[in-house]
Amino acid sequence: MTADIIDGKAFAAGLRNKVAGHVARLVADHGITPGLAVVLVGDDPASDVYVRSKGRMTKAAGMLSVEHRLPADTTQDDLLALVARLNADRAIHGILVQLPLPKGIDEARVLATILPAKDVDGFHISNVGLLAVGQRAMVPCTPLGCILMLREHLGDLSGLDAVVIGRSNIVGKPMAQLLLGENCTVTLAHSRTRDLAGVVRRADIVVAAVGRPCMVTADWIKPGATVIDVGINRTDAGLVGDVDFAGVAAVAGAITPVPGGVGPMTIACLLANTVTACCRANG
Ligand code: GUN
Repeated sequence: MTADIIDGKAFAAGLRNKVAGHVARLVADHGITPGLAVVLVGDDPASDVYVRSKGRMTKAAGMLSVEHRLPADTTQDDLLALVARLNADRAIHGILVQLPLPKGIDEARVLATILPAKDVDGFHISNVGLLAVGQRAMVPCTPLGCILMLREHLGDLSGLDAVVIGRSNIVGKPMAQLLLGENCTVTLAHSRTRDLAGVVRRADIVVAAVGRPCMVTADWIKPGATVIDVGINRTDAGLVGDVDFAGVAAVAGAITPVPGGVGPMTIACLLANTVTACCRANG
């Protein structure tokens, strides 16, 4: 068997197009331009690439993009003051503080300061709680992108066995909540899970978000399963995911590539969340 390749790049381009159409109507009919502020503290090269890319795509969708680049020695108080200004700024509908933050800054405190209604990352505990109880939340972008691709590829996910590998707050935990919301039977596996290969082998849907290059191999995969690879690992061989793509593609029913799978969907979902935040702010 050779798996279908789930083309995240094409899917993300379609979603960005839809977002741009929505933005154009907001501007033309209501004179409202959705605005996204991205805050980057320090000079981590990978974060710099992401932030640039977010800014470019935000503008390409017709939205207002504001970037705040602060030095690595920025104090927590200065960062909190900036977040407070952005909270009060009526032109800004979404705020994203790029993670990780430099040592010495309390990440949880910063995330808790962002107004939940402007929290387009979905990391504020209010949004985490709303997602957990199945109420209207801002949903974290990477898991949202994964669920959109799964729905597009599989249709109804009801009753399917889903295994999420990795229990991060950014991906693993919200991914598990979203799959539960789709009526999957969900296992949230992690580094201490016993017989991880055996657990994954039961899954109709596998979401790998561990940050270990090529950890998930073909012998872990039930034939025909759908495999979503969230990993982005820089190795000597270039960018690779958490899934051994060549091996797993021979067994799975469908698989996302790295690059060109989940990655492009994350930014497209950030734009979609910003438009959602803007619409909610304007009734
Ligand atoms: N760093 C890596 N991924 C993310 C993300 O989705 N949001 C933020 N704010 N920082 C990140």
